[in-house]
Amino acid sequence: MIQRPKGTYDVYGNMSKKILYIRKLMTSLMEKYNYEYFRTPLFEASELFHRGVGETSDIVTKETYDFKDRGDRNLTLRPEGTAGIVRSYIENKMYGNGNIVKCWYFGPMYRYERPQAGRYREFYQFGVEAMGSSDPALDAEVISIPVNFYKLLGLKDVKVKINSLGDLESRLKYKDALLAYFRPYLDDLCDDCKERFEKNPLRILDCKIDNHLDIMQKAPKITDYLNEESQKHFEAVIQYLKAMDIEYEIDPNIVRGLDYYTHTVFEVEANVEGFGKTCVLCGGGRYDNLVSNLGGPDTKAVGFALGLERLLTILDAEKIDIDDDNQLDVYMIPMDSKQKEYALKILNELRMNGFNVDMDYMGRSFKSNLKQLDRINPKFIIIIGEEEERNNLLTIKNNQTKTEEKISYNQIVDYLDDKMKDIED
Ligand code: HAM
Repeated sequence: MIQRPKGTYDVYGNMSKKILYIRKLMTSLMEKYNYEYFRTPLFEASELFHRGVGETSDIVTKETYDFKDRGDRNLTLRPEGTAGIVRSYIENKMYGNGNIVKCWYFGPMYRYERPQAGRYREFYQFGVEAMGSSDPALDAEVISIPVNFYKLLGLKDVKVKINSLGDLESRLKYKDALLAYFRPYLDDLCDDCKERFEKNPLRILDCKIDNHLDIMQKAPKITDYLNEESQKHFEAVIQYLKAMDIEYEIDPNIVRGLDYYTHTVFEVEANVEGFGKTCVLCGGGRYDNLVSNLGGPDTKAVGFALGLERLLTILDAEKIDIDDDNQLDVYMIPMDSKQKEYALKILNELRMNGFNVDMDYMGRSFKSNLKQLDRINPKFIIIIGEEEERNNLLTIKNNQTKTEEKISYNQIVDYLDDKMKDIED
C-alpha cells in the first residue's frame, strides 16, 4: 500500500471540523482588525528564500524542498509565508500610494525537518504581515492578534516572550561582543555553531544542540547593546502592550530562526504535555530591511505566523472542544425509491434557501433509515410517501419534540425559517 510521505498527515472527521471552525474564527478576527486576505504561490524562485529568509538560517541551509521544473528553473516549496508576501508586495507595487498594507494568510508551508510532536514537513501557518509603518504601536497590534486568537479559542496558559534585536548598528555592536565572548569556547560548541560563529554568531543562541550549555546562559544580552533609538522603540512596544493588558515577559534569549528580523521579536509559548519542554505556538517580529533587501523601496514591516498543528495539540491537551455547531437541519427520508425525484427536488430547494440538508444514498429501507437517526441527529426529518408526492405535500417531524405535521411543498421554506428562529430563541 502506498503511504503518505513522512512528516505529513491527512485531515478528516473531527479534525476537519476543528480546522474549519478555526479558519472561520481567523477570518472573522481578521475582519475586525481590518486585515486583507492574501494568497501567494506554494512555490517560488529558490533565490527568494535565500535572500529573504537568509543564507545562514537552518531553514534555508537544511530544510528547503528544492527542485528544478521542466524548464530548468530553480524553485522551492515555500518554508514560510513572509518572503512570498513581501515579493508580492514589491511585484504588485502595493507601496505605490504610500499606504500601509495589512494582510493575513493561511496555508501550507514545507520544511524538511525531523518529524516529532508538533513538527511536520508539511504544516499550516496562519500569519499576518503589516507593511509600510515603523510605528511601535503596530508591533503591539501584531502581537495582540495571536494573543486574542488564543483567548477566543479558550486557551489560558499561554505566555508572550519578547525581545529586541535592535537596528543594524546595535546588532553589529552586539555581534562583536558575541564573537569576543564565544571565541575562547569555540571547541565546546557543536559543528553547526562553529560555522555560525563565522557567518552569523547570533544564531548560536538559537542552537537546539548547545542550548543547555552554561556558556549560553551567560552570553552577553542584546538588550545591553541597543542604541538609543532601538531602546526607545522597544520601550514603546512594551508600553503599548501594557495599555492593551497583554501579559509579556522580556526574554533576551529569543533571537528567532530567520535572518530578516530587526527590533521587536516575539514568541508565544505554552506548556503542553508530550512536548518535552515548552511548545512554541507562534513567532514573529519586525523586519525593517526585508523589503529593500528584496529589491523594493525602504519599507518597514512587522508580522507573525502561528502553526495550526501545535494549536490543535494544545487544544487537545487542554481538553478544549471547539467543535462548531453544525447539526444537520433536515434529513430526508423517502418511503420508497420511487419518491427519490421528489425528495431531491425538496432537498435542492432547501439547500438553496440556506438549510443544511442530507438524505440517504445507501439504498436503505424506510425502517433502517429511521434507525440511523440517532447517529445523524438532524433537527427535522422530512418523510415523503406516495400520498405526499401525489399531492405536493410532505410530512415534517421535529426530532426533539417528536411532533409531526403535514404541510404543502410551497410552505416548507417559510415553515423551516420560523421553526429555526424558535430553536435559536
Ligand atoms: P517561524 O517561527 O519559523 O516563523 O514559524 C512560525 C510558527 O510556525 C512556529 O511558531 C510554529 O508554530 C509553526 N511551525 C514552524 N515550523 C513548523 C513545523 N515544522 N511543523 C509544525 N509547525 C511549524 C515564520 O515562519 C515567520 N515567517 C513568522 C513571521 C511572519 N515573522 C514575521 N512575519
